[in-house]
Amino acid sequence: MAVTELPVTLDRNSATPLATQLATQLRRAILEGTVEAPHHLPSSRRLAAELGVSRGVVVRAYEQLTGEGYLEGHGAGGTRVAVRADVRAPARTVPPRPREEPSRPVIDLTPGRPSDTPFADRSWRTAWRAALAEPGHVDLPPALGTTRLRAAIAGHLATARGLAVDAEDVIVTAGTSDALQLIVTALRTRSPAPRVLVEDPGYPTARRVLATAGARVQTLPVSPDGLRATQLTTVAPVPDAVLITPSHQYPLGGRMPVQERLALLEWAAEHRVLVLEDDYDSEFRHRRMPLPATASLPSQAEVVLLGSFSKTLSPWLRCGYLVVRGASGQLLKETRTNLVTPVCGVLQSALAHYIDDGGLARHTARARRAYAHRRALLLDRLANRPDLELNALEGGLHAVVRLPAPVDAEDLAAVALTHGVRIVPLALYYAHQPPENGLVIGYGAPSDLQLTHALDTILQLIDTRVPHRG
Ligand SMILES: Cc1ncc(COP(=O)(O)O)c(C=O)c1O
Repeated sequence: MAVTELPVTLDRNSATPLATQLATQLRRAILEGTVEAPHHLPSSRRLAAELGVSRGVVVRAYEQLTGEGYLEGHGAGGTRVAVRADVRAPARTVPPRPREEPSRPVIDLTPGRPSDTPFADRSWRTAWRAALAEPGHVDLPPALGTTRLRAAIAGHLATARGLAVDAEDVIVTAGTSDALQLIVTALRTRSPAPRVLVEDPGYPTARRVLATAGARVQTLPVSPDGLRATQLTTVAPVPDAVLITPSHQYPLGGRMPVQERLALLEWAAEHRVLVLEDDYDSEFRHRRMPLPATASLPSQAEVVLLGSFSKTLSPWLRCGYLVVRGASGQLLKETRTNLVTPVCGVLQSALAHYIDDGGLARHTARARRAYAHRRALLLDRLANRPDLELNALEGGLHAVVRLPAPVDAEDLAAVALTHGVRIVPLALYYAHQPPENGLVIGYGAPSDLQLTHALDTILQLIDTRVPHRG
């Protein structure tokens, strides 16, 4: 093959070096079979002269392709194509473009999605810049969390929750799910399949995570205010731990009276049951002040407080914390250390800066106002409907709506989705109890306009479109 027949055109104005252009075009020619093995390529001197480039350009391109195995050098015998036709890459076929379905925007009222994240705020960005400017860290972050973030969390709990917490008792986690895995791993050092009692209805993710981590999950039917201590005497066998949401029963929304909490603690102390208090959204109270955390009540029982930044900031962060005490605290710290699963160091630094500079407090105050406003919108749309029963509006970022008997919540959710509104039936939260007919409506993330539109759609469907039972 004459040099001039080589399919090579070099562009001197291109930013791509000439040697790279040459190598790319020769490689393509070999793969497409235009230049086949054992074809001899022209000498570097000859090809350089033909192409009007320096010899070094051709030498570099040949070396590149020899290194990749497309060419082989034979000394004075020249340079040959080394790739046989039968091992050439199959012709590249362009995959058919997936037919683009016109995607209908969905207003997502799934609970657990907070208001706008603070990610675009100046103080959030300043915090990240400060974290990134810290001198290079070349070690693993500390297993239990950085000293600064643990102290910042203790400070946050003091102001936001009135809790006196020692920074030494804080373990930084990647959120509640991570915390639950850690707890089960720690409990398994004492018993191979620890029993964990959970509320029914309750947080389905917690049930799943506990079981996947190796716990035996027992459920206890609870009222909207959580479990009653008298029920505990009937629980057999006695569990190793009990997971509760006393500040805001998830999802029904009540709060566990102090008397019940004290009785629960007494039972836990007597039977050496570890109390796991999931304090997932206490920052957002709309009417009444939150009760003090169960972890702060006087008791011999061991209580672990589980906190998360998923609702105060965003689930995207994957960051939360545990507040631990006593022998269980020691066990959890040892287990965390042995697992070597610290939370990302840069994230911890940025979050510590953000909390220390007051960014978290400002963001929470802003979010609280937004939620209060959206809660008012929800009441405005739904409270005057005698057929609907509204609950769980004391705090947080979701509400529970019980539906009139003939409307089936699951059918309603399915039909609502075809009308561009995603809602979650209450049934999803029940493990064994017969579920109530209702919806859990998250109002954290949608805008006022989206929320109003979504609620109007739901009401219209209840009135006209949804198949009624029976
Ligand atoms: C009851 C409950 N606990 C905890 C969390 C936070 O979980 P994580 O920190 O794993 O995001 C949520 C989030 O939706 C929740 O609903």
